Amino acid sequence: MTDTTSLDPVQLEPLLAASSNESTSTGPAVEVRAAYRTFEQDTAPVRALRGADLTVRSGEFVAVMGPSGCGKSTMLNLVAGLDVPDEGEVMIAGESLSGKDENALAIMRRQHVGIVFQFFNLLEGMTVLENVVMPAVIAGRKRKVAESRARDLLDLLGIGDKAKQAPGVLSGGQRQRLAIARALANEPTIVLADEPTGALDSEGGEEVLELFRRLHQGGQTILMVTHDQPVADAAERIVRMKDGRVDDDGLG
Ligand SMILES: Nc1ncnc2c1ncn2[C@@H]1O[C@H](COP(=O)(O)OP(=O)(O)O)[C@@H](O)[C@H]1O
Ligand SMILES: [Mg+2]
Repeated sequence: MTDTTSLDPVQLEPLLAASSNESTSTGPAVEVRAAYRTFEQDTAPVRALRGADLTVRSGEFVAVMGPSGCGKSTMLNLVAGLDVPDEGEVMIAGESLSGKDENALAIMRRQHVGIVFQFFNLLEGMTVLENVVMPAVIAGRKRKVAESRARDLLDLLGIGDKAKQAPGVLSGGQRQRLAIARALANEPTIVLADEPTGALDSEGGEEVLELFRRLHQGGQTILMVTHDQPVADAAERIVRMKDGRVDDDGLG
């Protein structure tokens, strides 16, 4: 905990997309309109999304909250461009994902989305630094630029001293902070997080939530899904889902 307290929004701002993209992102960061998604199973089809709507404005920190199985991860995966709806539309930074092929979706993800998963998905055979450099190099940045930004991010997230080590030396909370540094590597329009504290003890979980709050203060747009009310309480707005739909958008 102690080492994230140095994370000053003023220091942070130049590293986040919000400051550089402000003029271009006037509309919502994310819009999901009447999204339907059914998974065909051997037994019976599972209607995971049944007309879900969601708008996340630029700079918001939104938590999507609801019981296990209500469709939260399915909706997050649509926003991430990892899956496509059967019906309805998803827009990121004003651009519709409808009709995009795999390749176009991959480009969209690189440009606009940083994803944080419950189980970190780190590359264990690479150093901490390389885990953050890699996505930026894949996105076409010069190695030197990517490395310098990765070092700044690791410093800000309090794990700069671990840059040369393997992710295995990190605590759970530090592992998730590394995953967040990686998610920020390409200055994403939005950071998406699926149960980001789900595999952490309460201290590690609190570290991650505190970090999200500070990123939000620095202008970063964040969409987090969780089934855990205390986790959702870290967000600026709570959207409630039930049976594949948004039940309450938290706007009152
Ligand atoms: N790839 C899939 N294949 C089949 N069923 C799925 C798949 N993904 C999700 N489901 C089902 O869709 C429903 C919603 O799942 P999910 O979006 O993961 O819920 P949540 O994240 O809210 O727990 C669940 O019944 C789940 O079993
Ligand atoms: Mg889920």
